[in-house]
Amino acid sequence: MSYSIAIDGPAGAGKSTIARLVAKKKGCCYVDTGAIYRAMALFMLRSRVDASDREQIAQKCREARVELAYENGEQQVFLNGEPVNGLIRTEQVSQMASKTAAVPAVREWLIDLQRGLAKSRDVIMDGRDIGTCVLPEATVKIYLTASVEVRARRRYLEYREKGGTETYEEICEDVAKRDAQDMGRAIAPLKQAEDAVLVDTSEMTIEQAADRILEICAQKGC
Ligand code: CDP
Repeated sequence: MSYSIAIDGPAGAGKSTIARLVAKKKGCCYVDTGAIYRAMALFMLRSRVDASDREQIAQKCREARVELAYENGEQQVFLNGEPVNGLIRTEQVSQMASKTAAVPAVREWLIDLQRGLAKSRDVIMDGRDIGTCVLPEATVKIYLTASVEVRARRRYLEYREKGGTETYEEICEDVAKRDAQDMGRAIAPLKQAEDAVLVDTSEMTIEQAADRILEICAQKGC
């Protein structure tokens, strides 16, 4: 039987880097669900939808066909047939993703895609509601977090490496704003599932965090 590892947590906790490393070590598929919401957000930005107009977002989302494909373990996200990996990692898209993801119709539209991916293969899937909503029966559930300062610093360094011009203070503010939106929304809010193991990465290296997750997986028999 296939297994699934659910990793939830706030922005900058290290979910994608750590999950990618665990996937490599375990030889399973890494599914980044944030990329799905980001592709949807890109669609809304391109459609010039007002981020606060939840009704329009609910109507428009059905025009966005989001698909994932895997090549050599790397995930590629497609928006209406166009590969958009290179366009979705900006603060503008992050903020729009957090707004659109709070609209129930959007989550309904995107949930089957996520569940389908875990049906017939071993996966490590990260997001905000994987352990609580998408895969409530996941073999292993992890809630990955770190202090807001540490998370903002990681994001700052990541953007700076890519030539971004945002200051640390701006990113810290954005991260805190997104935390509040993701944790405070009515549908599928970000929270630790009752049966999830908390891993605080504030003082851990990527290797240490990955090893901790592998240890938890081994305890659960996967
Ligand atoms: O990489 P980072 O943690 O900054 O964000 P992400 O995982 O790419 O997700 C971007 C946004 O999509 C989040 O702030 C959430 O609002 C939303 N999201 C969600 O609602 N549910 C998920 N399973 C994944 C992402």
